[in-house]
Amino acid sequence: MRPPEINPGEIFPRSIRGRLSKQLRGRFGGALEHNAPVSGQLAYRPVRPSKAERRRTALQQLVSLPRTLAGIRRIVREDYAPAALDEHLWAFAGFHEGSGDPHYRARTWQKASLSAIGADHVAGMPASEFALMVHVAMEIEAPIQAYSRQTGEGFRLLVPGLARFMGRNQAQAGHADEMGDPWCESCWCAEERRHATTFARVIERLTGLAPIGDNPNEPIPVDANESDALRLLAGRQSSEWNASSVYVVLTAHAKGELHTVMRNVARDEIKHLAILSALDRYLLGPRPWGRFAALVGTAIEQYRGHRQRRSAGDYIGSNATSAFEVIVAHLLAEHRVRRWLASLPLCALTAVFESSSHLPALAALPRAPEQEAHDREAVRAAAERRASLARWAPAHRRRALDQRAWEAASAGVVEGVVAGDLEGLAGAGLPGSIEDRQTRRRIRRLGTGRLRAALLGRLRHHQIAHNRHELARQT
Ligand SMILES: [Fe+2]
Ligand SMILES: [Fe+2]
Repeated sequence: MRPPEINPGEIFPRSIRGRLSKQLRGRFGGALEHNAPVSGQLAYRPVRPSKAERRRTALQQLVSLPRTLAGIRRIVREDYAPAALDEHLWAFAGFHEGSGDPHYRARTWQKASLSAIGADHVAGMPASEFALMVHVAMEIEAPIQAYSRQTGEGFRLLVPGLARFMGRNQAQAGHADEMGDPWCESCWCAEERRHATTFARVIERLTGLAPIGDNPNEPIPVDANESDALRLLAGRQSSEWNASSVYVVLTAHAKGELHTVMRNVARDEIKHLAILSALDRYLLGPRPWGRFAALVGTAIEQYRGHRQRRSAGDYIGSNATSAFEVIVAHLLAEHRVRRWLASLPLCALTAVFESSSHLPALAALPRAPEQEAHDREAVRAAAERRASLARWAPAHRRRALDQRAWEAASAGVVEGVVAGDLEGLAGAGLPGSIEDRQTRRRIRRLGTGRLRAALLGRLRHHQIAHNRHELARQT
């Protein structure tokens, strides 16, 4: 396993103010005029470009649009492929296995050198436009400590395993603060904390100016009750969907090292989207349009909020070509994720989200005995509601519970067919592969109805659990 070369450090890197490269200054010309002196030195501050500049930019992007869209399509096809999403989903279980595998503590990044990035790595849009978009993203990404505490607290009763994967709850965070322990222990936090840092470096490389970062997003604290937690789940899914789509667009506009760096970040977000979307399906059942409506509704709310609050936020969405590219990336991603979600069997979702965690419990400040008792009961009730698919639409729930009961009663038959006729699914391959198609053909010949559904479920479960091994075998 190759360790990532770019390590998370402080949110904002060593300033290079006052060390402006003449070459970069020449490239950016007018854009630098927007940057006001800070403490007597120049720093990057995004400013809405003039109308004439915006028209020029939109036109330049329009000319490159066919190539950009082809790039977006290619990235989405590769990075939202079922095998890639399977790997992301199983990483949730891998984190809780607690094996110490660094890939499961934070997704491995492809090697890239930030110091090699230059303005000529931006394709199909001006580097100043690229930097503007990255700056908005940096402000949204920056308060990761607050996000990780928001999700750690918000999910602690609904799905405690997700809370641990994403952050610390209030009592755990309070204890860490008192003891001076590291604030970031979860996988999600370790992956997210490197984004703002990376974006600050990208801006620095593209403009020759370090961003100030004095206007970070302010996450709203949430309660752990069920309705707030479900709203938080929709909100986080939407944030991951927006982030991954925007970063896919930026990756399509990037070449060389910049492409690798942006893709590393985009893939982190795709991983988070995969896990949260799979959890949505597990908790709420198949609901492609309900989920889509919730994502779009939240995305519009977030878009309006960021237009008001981000630095130069009123520029967001005002470049029609960028807006079109981002919408296309959203829709292509949703199309892929939706197809993948439909392929996830209940047995695999249960294995991912219900397996007991082998991680040591995090120390926490004591809660009042009544509060402890209330929390224990809430966690137990939430587990019961998950197991009984209580939040699913009635027709889906009935079918899924019938199938699960039949599989439990016929476990011997199913095991026998898997071990004998399907040779333990050893040759199941990756979804969409020749081996996968061959196995599906054999399953179709072996049975119909519930037996076929059970065998297809076992095939997908096997593919998800053995995905990393299979990917390694093929490379
Ligand atoms: Fe992020
Ligand atoms: Fe994310």
